[in-house]
Amino acid sequence: MDRRRFTTLCTGLLAGAATAHANARDAHTPYPATQLAFTDDTDVTLDSLKTGQAYIFGYPYRTTPCFLVRLATSAPGNGSWPGGMDTDQSVVAFSAICSHKMSHPAKPISHISYRAEPVSFYDTHGKKQTHQGVISCCSERSVYDPANAGQVLSGPAPAPLAAIALSADEQGRLSAVGSYGVDQYDRFLEKFGFRLAMEYGVTDVRARSGNRSQIVRAEEFSTQQVLC
Ligand code: FES
Repeated sequence: MDRRRFTTLCTGLLAGAATAHANARDAHTPYPATQLAFTDDTDVTLDSLKTGQAYIFGYPYRTTPCFLVRLATSAPGNGSWPGGMDTDQSVVAFSAICSHKMSHPAKPISHISYRAEPVSFYDTHGKKQTHQGVISCCSERSVYDPANAGQVLSGPAPAPLAAIALSADEQGRLSAVGSYGVDQYDRFLEKFGFRLAMEYGVTDVRARSGNRSQIVRAEEFSTQQVLC
């Protein structure tokens, strides 16, 4: 499928066209669309994303962090999630709030990160595994698979990461348009609101992302990244 057809498909999904993704369309929770931009305010396009580089952006609230990454592998649809964007389905976005105890990338430090390099962990059957391209939370060592709908590979996480619904226009410009799966935005804002207000310098931590949300390289978003 060429890019034009693919992006048309995604636009059709939003417009309510009857497509093979109809079930996925029904499953995602729509939030106001936010176009993604780099820190110099240029548009984020599918072609501008380098494989393995993880970014953080705020969606659907400015203070709720998400990962955006072009994976080295395809991320096909699974259940209600339609899969990654682009012709190879490798561009994905997930909430960066761990489903266990809501560890998340904060500006001073992050215990959860996308790992392009091989990471070893024990799977749910106690077998040692080594995978690259996972999202790893070092708080209590939960590991998620962004190439498989954010499913839990290891650790105490009770649920997959919420996936962010993406849309691309004819030029490949990316927008976040909703969320799939169980999200924790309300609980997160309630629990961490006071600290988030200080960290982001805002009075309203429930402010929506607005028309544009900047993506920041993960290693720049958090001063310190804890890797395990
Ligand atoms: S908060 Fe992520 S594993 Fe506990």
